[in-house]
Amino acid sequence: MKEKLRAEFIERHKIEPEIIVRSPGRVNIIGEHTDYNNGFVLPASIDKAAYMAISLRDDDQIHLLAKDLNETFSISIPELKPIGDVSWPNYILGAVAQFQKKNIPLKGFNAILTSDVPIGAGLSSSAAVECATVFALNELLQTNLSKIEMVLMAQKAEHEYAGVFCGVMDQFASVMGKRDHVIKLDCRSLEYEYVPFNLDGIKILLLNTNVKHSLASSEYNTRRLECEQAVAWIKEQQPEINSLRDATEEMLDKYVLPKDSLIDQRSRFVVQEIDRLHKGCNDLVKGDINALGKKMFETHNGLSKMYGVSCKELDFMVDLVRNNDAVIGARMMGGGFGGCTINLVKEDAIDELVDMVKTAYEKEMELPLTYYIASIENGTSII
Ligand code: GLA
Repeated sequence: MKEKLRAEFIERHKIEPEIIVRSPGRVNIIGEHTDYNNGFVLPASIDKAAYMAISLRDDDQIHLLAKDLNETFSISIPELKPIGDVSWPNYILGAVAQFQKKNIPLKGFNAILTSDVPIGAGLSSSAAVECATVFALNELLQTNLSKIEMVLMAQKAEHEYAGVFCGVMDQFASVMGKRDHVIKLDCRSLEYEYVPFNLDGIKILLLNTNVKHSLASSEYNTRRLECEQAVAWIKEQQPEINSLRDATEEMLDKYVLPKDSLIDQRSRFVVQEIDRLHKGCNDLVKGDINALGKKMFETHNGLSKMYGVSCKELDFMVDLVRNNDAVIGARMMGGGFGGCTINLVKEDAIDELVDMVKTAYEKEMELPLTYYIASIENGTSII
């Protein structure tokens, strides 16, 4: 990947790229839709990543090439703003804009981007690009930002240039990931702990429904508002409550359920999911992987029936493996409405399982099934 990208850069720009940055996609074991509720998540960066070869220019021009799409895009720094239909430049431009907002003197640059994080699969392909850009510019402009500052800038890029009011999980996992570990992240304080995830004979299998989550951004923002509404109702009676992180099911019974049963279901899922994450993380630490797996299925049920972010293809995929002895746990992953399920699977049964799922899924859903075995690799770095 690195050599090809370097060669491409030299051919196009007639100079060596100053640096090549790799920034990975992520999985999340448990703790979904909890990050923007100030809760906890348990993600990890994976072996699929975005790669950016980049060199500064002497003027204020930004010249971009998305190698996989064979699309180019150019803009000058004073004209920087989110662009309409074309999506990929926004992730880069949004990251650049964060430097501008911090009054960091910018320079133009040439960049070539390539990625093997599947797009729209719930593996944070956009966060990978945002983080690669922030990391690269920090290096080239010698800005000395901390990794956490870079995470927050990449998250802002998604808010401001992609219009998705995401939590901090994806960008945090991409930048901070550590080989063979998951990150238990407190999304309120940003304190975190690496938990070893090296399960003998068990692999992370991602099954891609190939349903692109087009609904995701609008519904995602709606879920966020629904959670905020629940907090506002609780707060009327208990002013010390600032997020669902601090709420209990008793509070929901008293202050939310009587007002709106849908908002009750949404917020109850989040309260339960934060609790489930703590217990699931303890299971992992104790080595009780079966107990963790069971909780992943519970998370799926909650995401589907209470939080309303699944779809028939994701439900079908989880139901297919629910009673399979080789599958420890499975659930939809990420924002929802399509993308991948994450499955913890006994290694020696993967081939057979994939054959079974592929045949059944393609027949019933009339969509192709693709799959990846994800390994946990380090976060963003210069390669
Ligand atoms: C998307 C967002 C994350 C998180 C997940 C759901 O991936 O970018 O911040 O909210 O959905 O857990």
